Amino acid sequence: MPDYAEKIPNNVDLAGDRRLQRALESWQPNFLSWWDSMGPALPTQDVYLRTAIDVRGEGWAHFGHVPMRDYRWGIFLAERDPDRRVAFGAHKGEPAWQKVPGEYRAELQRLIVIQGDTEPASVEQQRNLGATAPSLYDLRNLFQVNVEEGRHLWAMVYLLHAYFGREGREEAEELLHRNSGSEDSPRILGAFNEETPDWLSFYMFTYFTDRDGKYQLGTLKESAFDPLSRTCEFMLKEEAHHMMVGTTGVDRVVERTAQVMIEHDTDDVTAHGAIPLPVIQKYLNFHYSVSLDLFGGETSTNVANYYTAGLKGRWLEERRKDDHLLADDSMMVEALVEGQIGQNEVSALTGLNTDLRREYIADCAGGVKRWNRILEEAGLPQRLYLPHVAFNRKVGAFAPIEASPSGEQLSADEWAERKRQWLPTDTDKTYVRSLMQPVHQRGKIAAWVAPPRNGINGQPFDYEYVHLS
Ligand SMILES: [Fe+2]
Ligand SMILES: [Fe+2]
Repeated sequence: MPDYAEKIPNNVDLAGDRRLQRALESWQPNFLSWWDSMGPALPTQDVYLRTAIDVRGEGWAHFGHVPMRDYRWGIFLAERDPDRRVAFGAHKGEPAWQKVPGEYRAELQRLIVIQGDTEPASVEQQRNLGATAPSLYDLRNLFQVNVEEGRHLWAMVYLLHAYFGREGREEAEELLHRNSGSEDSPRILGAFNEETPDWLSFYMFTYFTDRDGKYQLGTLKESAFDPLSRTCEFMLKEEAHHMMVGTTGVDRVVERTAQVMIEHDTDDVTAHGAIPLPVIQKYLNFHYSVSLDLFGGETSTNVANYYTAGLKGRWLEERRKDDHLLADDSMMVEALVEGQIGQNEVSALTGLNTDLRREYIADCAGGVKRWNRILEEAGLPQRLYLPHVAFNRKVGAFAPIEASPSGEQLSADEWAERKRQWLPTDTDKTYVRSLMQPVHQRGKIAAWVAPPRNGINGQPFDYEYVHLS
């Protein structure tokens, strides 16, 4: 169990490496000043937070009220399996690496920096949401996600400091200097420079964009570089809560809208302060399509090389029933074929981004199914859906074209004409924002969202999850 008296709680024997400890201790004040200026803006006394204290099974986390600034951001790696071997690629069957091989140093550092960059970015995007939280329960969940994304930054910074020398330390500083939406030094990936201006966006973000994170972490968990694998394994455990916030958040918005539709026998719920289903669909369309962009192009020789080198595997690599080399395999990927939406056959190695994206899409469909069950149980005929993979894409094969959510290819003029049916308009956003009035009283909730079925850690909904200052 990590020692909580230490400045930086950890299970990596930081005390045994004075140099590393000092490097992290000198990064820590920079992290805190970043947190003060870019972290949650709403002043609070304390928040009922989960803090990781162990990496094993039950009891890995502790719950209690803590001032957020005193949150014990620590470094936790899943337990080491001394017999772990590389599961795929050219090094398959060799013992997992405890050090960074010189030949892969630059690539591994790049992968860690890209992952690390997303963690503080989402905290920045969500910085102002506290001011409009629909309940103390939601406010607490927002802050829980924020402190854990902060811890995920720590996780990546630990790897940079411990394994990548001076360059790693420089990259760790840069992770605090880039900022979401900044003109001069934006975050690396597009979706992490978008605003999260309201709580419907927050729920969609935690459902769709945190879920992208889950899949990226899943590929890094397979890495031959064992410390990266172990770090990601533990991060995935925390990540599950972030997606629960998204899944149940959208559940509760849909549930409330359905209630109002039934009660007033109308589709136009705006008069009653709920969010119309078509607006929910538009937000879904936006967040899903920008999250698909995070998977990169349908084909990638870089990713093929990462795989062969053992740096980054597939989702649930060890459950795949093939040779884990893929040198002789092929697959079909989405492509423009003579300017039309179609598919191309490519080598399985270059199609790995598509393979991961398909796993992600199948997972996303689960949420839509669940939200549609809420509509069905309410007796409503309307249904939500995932838009076509070519819809609203800025990255990959379909970036040059426009397509409707049903996958119908459109001219630029048709798109300009019709996109307001599918993506949130200024009117939609203004309406949603108009609903975002803070409800910071214990046990109360905003009118546009249903209360949760369950509280946190067995506490009731009306628990004092946050003490505001
Ligand atoms: Fe994260
Ligand atoms: Fe997350």
